[in-house]
Amino acid sequence: MKHNIILIGFMGSGKTCVGEYLAKQLSYGFQDSDQLIEEKTRDSINHIFSRYGEEYFRNLETDLLKEMVPVLEKTVLSTGGGLPIRDENAAILKELGFVVFLKTSKETTINRLQGDSSRPLLQGDELEEKVERMLALRTPIYENTAHDVIVTDGRTVEEITELIMEAYKNIKN
Ligand code: S3P
Repeated sequence: MKHNIILIGFMGSGKTCVGEYLAKQLSYGFQDSDQLIEEKTRDSINHIFSRYGEEYFRNLETDLLKEMVPVLEKTVLSTGGGLPIRDENAAILKELGFVVFLKTSKETTINRLQGDSSRPLLQGDELEEKVERMLALRTPIYENTAHDVIVTDGRTVEEITELIMEAYKNIKN
């Protein structure tokens, strides 16, 4: 397996926050798929969705992953919440390294995402219904894609990082 850790999970599960801390602990690089897409397109995620639509954004995610396969090394990669939903992407993620699903309850997710304006798929009314529907659809996919699942509710960034490092150490040896 390649020496990378890939964090997957729903919006608000702490992928970026944990990823940055984890990368520091391992002396790995840190990358975030949303940030990379924004840099590459010189556009914001919100604007890409409103101007070109979701399918276009998903294609950007797939293109990005394909570019990473030959070059990603000693990196923690945080991924956009919808990225593993495409079968093609899920297969590439497994190829890229050790995939960890940060699993967060519906209640915590809703608390964290209340009032958020940066996620185009959650704008407008009925946040609870949207989160519930998307979590039901995506959770089995996250679980199937990941080598390991870590429940984040009630845990600090440091504790989650420790658990990931322990699991990663075991797989590397
Ligand atoms: C999305 C999650 C977002 C971002 C885009 C779509 C999704 O990333 O890629 O808004 O479909 O779940 P985060 O999970 O980092 O918020």
